[in-house]
Amino acid sequence: MAQSLHDESRNDVRLTMENPSIQLRHWKEDDAWALFKYASDPELGPLAGWPPHKSVEESLEVIRTIFNTESMWAIVWKASDEPIGCVGYLPSSASNLIIEADHAEVGYWIARPFWGKGICTEALKLVIDHCFNVKGFTTLWGCYFPDNPASGRVMEKCGFQDTGKEALCPNLKVGSEKAVKIMELKANSPTRLTCPTCLTSPIKNNHQ
Ligand SMILES: CC(C)(COP(=O)(O)OP(=O)(O)OC[C@H]1O[C@@H](n2cnc3c(N)ncnc32)[C@H](O)[C@@H]1OP(=O)(O)O)[C@@H](O)C(=O)NCCC(=O)NCCS
Repeated sequence: MAQSLHDESRNDVRLTMENPSIQLRHWKEDDAWALFKYASDPELGPLAGWPPHKSVEESLEVIRTIFNTESMWAIVWKASDEPIGCVGYLPSSASNLIIEADHAEVGYWIARPFWGKGICTEALKLVIDHCFNVKGFTTLWGCYFPDNPASGRVMEKCGFQDTGKEALCPNLKVGSEKAVKIMELKANSPTRLTCPTCLTSPIKNNHQ
């Protein structure tokens, strides 16, 4: 994994991460059109607990108010230099789950034309390395709706294990009445994959 600090004009630490196919960088206001193009998909957001975006202005507002944090990255497909998804973590204070102070919850989505190419798994591996190696979290959590098994599979491929537990997430804007399945990954877990693995894992390169 390559990491670089940039944008030193900001007070917080802005970090980019990348592997041969994708770059994770922080969101920019210029991304509003691309975000709207993909986040307006009527079926995408509800799978992750948020409503489809209705306008470019709404997408810009999301970039300014929700994505403007050091813990959230745009997933940029290097071949087109376009943001095609979002990945990041929520510290315990913002988590949908009740978790300890040195734990965090991961979250992600990928634009539909890019599903099934292993991109989210690669992006999540980069964030996992950052969470454990840079931020020093001891445990990561993730949750997904049972009718969205692809999301559970992404976490499984990154070494998360099914806790067998479920919970309601009252903070979700969509689906707060549905129980989510809870996955867990400890920093010292034998199932945890390391950075060199994410550099060498092939991405299915069949996107047109
Ligand atoms: C879930 C999501 C992030 C997956 O992104 P992706 O880039 O397609 O994920 P990957 O290609 O890395 O991996 C997907 C895995 O799920 C599997 N999968 C896909 N559909 C599946 C299904 N119905 N049942 C079980 N597994 C499924 C794929 O086969 C793949 O596993 P494999 O590599 O072992 O074959 C993407 O579909 C998405 O953004 N969905 C909408 C938002 C969302 O659900 N966010 C997560 C909220 S918890």
